[in-house]
Amino acid sequence: MKKFFATLATALIMSTSVFAAQAEIVLPTVDNGGNLTVMQALSQRKSSRNFVDKNLTVNRLSKILWAANGVNRPNGKRVNPAALSVYSVEVYAVTSEGIYLYDATNHKLKLIAEGDFRSTTTTGQDFVTKAAVNLVYVETPDAWSSARKIPPRDAQLANANIAVGAMVQSVALAAQTENLGNCVRGSINRDEFKRVAKLSDAKTILLAQSVGFVE
Ligand SMILES: Cc1cc2nc3c(=O)[nH]c(=O)nc-3n(C[C@H](O)[C@H](O)[C@H](O)COP(=O)(O)O)c2cc1C
Repeated sequence: MKKFFATLATALIMSTSVFAAQAEIVLPTVDNGGNLTVMQALSQRKSSRNFVDKNLTVNRLSKILWAANGVNRPNGKRVNPAALSVYSVEVYAVTSEGIYLYDATNHKLKLIAEGDFRSTTTTGQDFVTKAAVNLVYVETPDAWSSARKIPPRDAQLANANIAVGAMVQSVALAAQTENLGNCVRGSINRDEFKRVAKLSDAKTILLAQSVGFVE
């Protein structure tokens, strides 16, 4: 009976298209199915700006976040490479419901602020406020504290900027396989997003990426 309810709960989570802001969202395990080969996804990659304001299912959101920063091996290493395996880029997911921090190790979302803050991730591009999720890639220097070798600050930032390039391209390809549009964005209201996402001054906002259904 317990198993039945657990299965029912999982089925409901997987099928839900709208999820209210919750303190923590446990994301479903990513099935690696997709309709496209990598070569097909590459040939179709483009920036989209014609988003429609419709939430992603938790299942789709799970795939997008996993592509951005997920763990893909038992040793904890990730989909995307990082210098010295120091994963210094955090991913924030900004939806119509709230701002969440993606906890890659546990494949969960942690609520940072409830409400629609999508407009704070742009300097005024209207399409951003319609995209189901705006990912914000943030460099966190704390990640280096346990590294066996700590590079100088400029090298840390260079590493993060290189890593984020891989991250956005993985998301672009995953979005393509899910029939979703995406747009990488450097124009971000950094001061405002730092404030609403409660980011410490030490953190650096690198890039944003809108993902969602398109017309
Ligand atoms: C680092 C970077 C920053 C970008 N910033 C923005 C942006 O702020 N707003 C936007 O609409 N597109 C932005 N783009 C998307 C580019 O405009 C787009 O990739 C380019 O026009 C080529 O078009 P395509 O992606 O469809 O091939 C950015 C792309 C990159 C790589």
